[in-house]
Amino acid sequence: MPELSVVIVAQDSEQRSVLQVLVDGTSVARTVHSCASFPVVASDPVVRRIQSASPDVVLVDVPSDSPALALRAIEIVHQELPETALFAIGSMAQPQAIVNAMRSGAREYIERPTTTTDLLEAFVRLTTAQRKVSREGLRGKVFTIVNAKGGSGATTVAVNLALALQSAHGNVALVDIATLGHAALHMNLKPLFTVADAIRNLHRLDSSLLESFMTRHNGGLQLLAGPNAPAAVEPSTAEFARLCDLLVGHFRYVVVDASTRMDATARLVCNLSERVLLVAHADVASLWSAARLQQYLGETGGRERVQLVLNRFRKIPGFSESDAEAAAGIKLLWKIPNQYFAVSAAIDRGIPLMHQNHTEIARSFTGLAGRLTENDVDVKRRAWSLFKTV
Ligand SMILES: Nc1ncnc2c1ncn2[C@@H]1O[C@H](COP(=O)(O)OP(=O)(O)OP(=O)(O)O)[C@@H](O)[C@H]1O
Ligand SMILES: [Mg+2]
Repeated sequence: MPELSVVIVAQDSEQRSVLQVLVDGTSVARTVHSCASFPVVASDPVVRRIQSASPDVVLVDVPSDSPALALRAIEIVHQELPETALFAIGSMAQPQAIVNAMRSGAREYIERPTTTTDLLEAFVRLTTAQRKVSREGLRGKVFTIVNAKGGSGATTVAVNLALALQSAHGNVALVDIATLGHAALHMNLKPLFTVADAIRNLHRLDSSLLESFMTRHNGGLQLLAGPNAPAAVEPSTAEFARLCDLLVGHFRYVVVDASTRMDATARLVCNLSERVLLVAHADVASLWSAARLQQYLGETGGRERVQLVLNRFRKIPGFSESDAEAAAGIKLLWKIPNQYFAVSAAIDRGIPLMHQNHTEIARSFTGLAGRLTENDVDVKRRAWSLFKTV
């Protein structure tokens, strides 16, 4: 993620320094200037000082007792620096201040007391949105696979989806961020390095070093393997954000196996994803968990990115797909047939289903890959030129 430059506008000196520490602590943004007073008119010298710092983001602290000046400042900065994103920091107990801040031009309203994670998530949302508008097609897309409940099949989906994308488009990475990495076992690979090695070397990580930490599967899929023992010290969410950024700069599609991991890091990776596939079975506990997880992921925005994949699907009399959607509160994206013997044998032998051609289940993963990429410009273009030459 490119470093964002941030200007802080806060009357309270303590709040100014707290915000500076929090911004710099995200590792994806840096405070370039801070102001102690709010501009009251467009010609105010404070506006000029903010302009000359040419920030990507202006953080405006909205005091609970007297929000009016801060709201006016947001309006002025929005008008004078229309390209800059404005984040208001304030109390959630004042709904009117939130509405007014958003109306004045704030893009985000972040609760006080603020944490580094709150800011990091807001910065990630901003860069993801900007990327969508300005650079669609130039960077890779992330699809994250999350289990509604342990053992629902996230790793099976992640591995086979990544292989299906690799065979259709090439240049695909599979990244295993589960607490214990099973993806390598599913593909009978013996990785020398893991995600932890890539993160330890973030400061000097470029495309070639990144690839040297990855393990190649025959057919070309590159795996960044997960840990083979639970980590003693977890990398920070900011480090994961940088790793993701490097991955999408290098690969066309990045499939992340989060399996049952659901913490701030997993949520951040989901935030950075084009689509989050929540893998569930069609039973009450699984769909209930899917609904809870969707709510957790949706708290930081992008609820519509989360879609349901029903694994081990079979028709149940009296229970329709729309019942599953209603129970989970999520739109159904795909159904994968229930084929216990084929799937278990594939895992035990380390030969993924996608490499055992012509099975119904392999066709299902090919279809899922097609569904996820159908709107990608280059994929559309290729389909069109194929059509023309036939
Ligand atoms: N479509 C399917 N049909 C039948 N069985 C399946 C299917 N998908 C997965 N399974 C079975 O479910 C088990 C768990 O699969 P997998 O390892 O992919 O799950 P997971 O959700 O990633 O597990 P964990 O929670 O440990 O990360 C496997 O042993 C496999 O046999
Ligand atoms: Mg798993």
